[in-house]
Amino acid sequence: MKDVFIIYESKYGHSKKYALALSEALKCEISEKKKIDKNKLLNSETIVFLGGLYAGKLNGFDIITKNFDKLKNKNIIVVPVGLLNPDNPENLEHTKESVCKKLSPEIKEKLTFFSLKGGIDYSKLGFKDKMMMSFMYKALAKRGVENLNEDGKLVIDTYGKKYDAFHPESLNKIIDYINEKD
Ligand SMILES: Cc1cc2nc3c(=O)[nH]c(=O)nc-3n(C[C@H](O)[C@H](O)[C@H](O)COP(=O)(O)O)c2cc1C
Repeated sequence: MKDVFIIYESKYGHSKKYALALSEALKCEISEKKKIDKNKLLNSETIVFLGGLYAGKLNGFDIITKNFDKLKNKNIIVVPVGLLNPDNPENLEHTKESVCKKLSPEIKEKLTFFSLKGGIDYSKLGFKDKMMMSFMYKALAKRGVENLNEDGKLVIDTYGKKYDAFHPESLNKIIDYINEKD
């Protein structure tokens, strides 16, 4: 069995669902970021971090960046969970750029990215998040639905509702990558 440790940070539960399904599939240890045992982090060969994307920032990712000096010889897999279509290579590139904006080239090079589609439930959003989504909705609506790409249209279609794109099969690409890595 591979020595894999999964860490997640999840504001509304979408990254948590993926993290739990991944740990079940890989039969490996898992921890929420705030409850982490640092020894496990330092002693694992492969680390998978999953977290929600908020305005291009990866929630909780500082657990990796702040400890990078001690983690740099490990396989580090980063999995942002967001609303953008993860199968669009442009989106993955864009997410990578925004998550790595403040990181050194050394850190960037050591990270392997996969992204997953999460969800949103407007009835559960905190005040600030609701406001942010309302600004985004208004800005997109102003442009006109016919001028939006599929991701923009999704924000318009799901605004004020509950939307969940959790599909455990989308973890297969990460599971295959980990199992094939020597
Ligand atoms: C205020 C706000 C900002 C968001 N910004 C982004 C974003 O920049 N990119 C993206 O793909 N998804 C964005 N999302 C969608 C979340 O990433 C998505 O809901 C994700 O599933 C949350 O994961 P979590 O519940 O594990 O925290 C945003 C959601 C909210 C509420």
